[in-house]
Amino acid sequence: MIKRKSKREIELMQEAGKLLAKVHKELRSFIKPGITTMDIENFVEKYLVKHGATAEQKGYQGYEYATCASINDEICHGFPRKDELKDGDIVTVDMVIRLNGGLADSAWTHPVGNISEEAQKLMDVTKSSLYKGIEQAQVGKRIGDIGHAIQSYVEGEGYSVVRDFTGHGIGETIHEDPYIPHFGEAGKGARLKEGMVITIEPMVNIGGWESKMDTNNWTARTVDGSLSAQYEHTVAITADGPVILTEQEED
Ligand code: MF3
Ligand code: CO
Repeated sequence: MIKRKSKREIELMQEAGKLLAKVHKELRSFIKPGITTMDIENFVEKYLVKHGATAEQKGYQGYEYATCASINDEICHGFPRKDELKDGDIVTVDMVIRLNGGLADSAWTHPVGNISEEAQKLMDVTKSSLYKGIEQAQVGKRIGDIGHAIQSYVEGEGYSVVRDFTGHGIGETIHEDPYIPHFGEAGKGARLKEGMVITIEPMVNIGGWESKMDTNNWTARTVDGSLSAQYEHTVAITADGPVILTEQEED
């Protein structure tokens, strides 16, 4: 069942989204060679406590951390760990936060030190694909329009879109209907309606789209070992168009 949110509910999610955007902005300068993804986890937890928010992922379906930290060929749901990040790595930090009853979900791929041109291009294309998906998040369009816009752009750049993980509705809990694939056919799927709040979160691989699961039963990585990036926003569908609830202010 797709739940539509009231103006007030969306406002609360936007407050959470603003705080989450600030966390990602802080991480831009925090992440550098030598720090660990466990340092990122601790930094985020402290930041949330300080600002009266909580980490919604912790305890969700048995997940133990506030953040997911997925390095290089890891697609999503990497565990925070104590290995140092190296110059040239890329790391996707994903988290859901709760503030005054509102939830917001956003992932961002960060460079570690100096990265290759190839990694930079992957990140640029992945981020642009997110915004191409968001452009389609309009009252009256269909879910397939979002996936189609993302997939056709990404494949046109020579990359592939992960199939095994999707965006989702979000509201009282992290994952609600509808599910939002980042691939698909224009004009297909459920119609988007005012008051729906969804995540759009394309994961893009330099090589093939196939993923495999680590033995921890959480972390997915590319089968061919190629790099993977991800950008995710929480987006409200309103009569005035898509409103990005987790947008980061420019410097
Ligand atoms: N933030 C993730 C998403 O974008 C959800 C992570 S699932 C968890 O869908 F179990 F790790 F919390
Ligand atoms: Co997320």
